[in-house]
Amino acid sequence: MIPARIIERKRNGEVLTPSELEAFLLGYLDEDVQEPQMAAFLMAVYFRGLDPRELDTLVDVMLHSGGVLDAHGIGGPVVDKHSTGGVGDKVSLPLAPLAAALGLVVPMISGRGLGHTGGTRDKLESIPGFRTDLTTTEVMRVLERVGCVIAGQTEQVAPLDRRLYALRDITGTVSSIPLISASIMSKKLAEGLDGLVLDVKVGEGAFIPEEARALELARTMTGIGVRRGVRTRALLTAMDRPLGRAIGNALEVVESVECLRGEGPPDLRELVLELGAEMLGVGGVTEDLGEARARAEAALDSGAALERFRRMVQEQGGDPGLVDDPSRLPKASESAPFRAERAGFVSRVTPSVLGMAIIEMGGGRRKLGDPVDPSVGFMLHVEPGQRIERGETLATVHASDRAGLEVGLKALSAAVQIVESREARAALLPLVSARVEPELDALGAQGGRERDTVLGQRS
Ligand code: URA
Repeated sequence: MIPARIIERKRNGEVLTPSELEAFLLGYLDEDVQEPQMAAFLMAVYFRGLDPRELDTLVDVMLHSGGVLDAHGIGGPVVDKHSTGGVGDKVSLPLAPLAAALGLVVPMISGRGLGHTGGTRDKLESIPGFRTDLTTTEVMRVLERVGCVIAGQTEQVAPLDRRLYALRDITGTVSSIPLISASIMSKKLAEGLDGLVLDVKVGEGAFIPEEARALELARTMTGIGVRRGVRTRALLTAMDRPLGRAIGNALEVVESVECLRGEGPPDLRELVLELGAEMLGVGGVTEDLGEARARAEAALDSGAALERFRRMVQEQGGDPGLVDDPSRLPKASESAPFRAERAGFVSRVTPSVLGMAIIEMGGGRRKLGDPVDPSVGFMLHVEPGQRIERGETLATVHASDRAGLEVGLKALSAAVQIVESREARAALLPLVSARVEPELDALGAQGGRERDTVLGQRS
């Protein structure tokens, strides 16, 4: 295998054979293929894409570059949910314990904030003492005791993805559908799942904002899952505005606890219930989505999911007292209201602007290893579509100093768009706009026949 020849072939749009591609990838792991060569290869893939066989080879080499968890001994279908990432997306925090309360086993591997999007690990680590850097033995222990665990990617999980991801991050090759799909699915398949639900974000704050490409991403990932015998479904969900009202690590933990209490913003609750019902579906518990949804609602409203969350926090070293007393979470020393300069209607709240501002305020990373201030962020008091009065408080900025407040207020001025009339408001995406479910028994080389259901119209 001559690395430069493989790169040239991909650059020219040719299709690599499985053995060629495998040799190139294994060569990278063995240091025979150098970083600049892999960077050039990734750029070639970015422009030329991968055909289905190449994609399968990439996924398999990534997956088998590490170990695969086996949580089947615990009892219960092993199921997870993964989101492609957004702003204010704290769904995993209430959803993992909810699914555990419903009898599923959830070994959730989560990431840190990426670009303008927040990361589940960073949110949970705002809980004093909470550890996400668990060993495989610790992951299994928490799973046995609680039924769910939320931890980081260990050295043993898809190490090739870790290296490729770090390289993509610095070479402008993140937003490629085959590369995102292989990266996410290799990590999820390493959890040894029976079923997987993908929350594919669409809209301005998503990595793949356009609806058609988000659908392609959903089809690519679900195809990868079912070809390996994992029941995989995807929902396309709105990220043309932030999810819920809280943005920022500790603020999002508080909102997650509210959701677990049966309170909190309706869009967050709705998405948690929809994804929870789908998890019961892919776990083979019930095919009836109505019944699944009713079970999820009952587990949320009875406090069963909250109780699992409390136990998960305790088992992962965190302070379980925060469930009853959220004031134990880190609090920003400064806060300021953002008020409407005129009456009208909120037309848009642009997610990426707020996500980027959080990084600037110290709540995210500019580079790997940067410390994160968990207390900073935004609380939105209005949502797109809503009528507002002049002087009304639209949001509150939480920051660690005056400079942070300024950054936050400036970001809100840019992100919150006010229009004069109801008619002038921007059209919003439905919370859930489509559902993708490949048929397990109808798979060809292209990933099988999908059943896409378009669920909603823009409002
Ligand atoms: N999350 C991942 O794990 N990988 C990607 O490529 C993008 C988002």
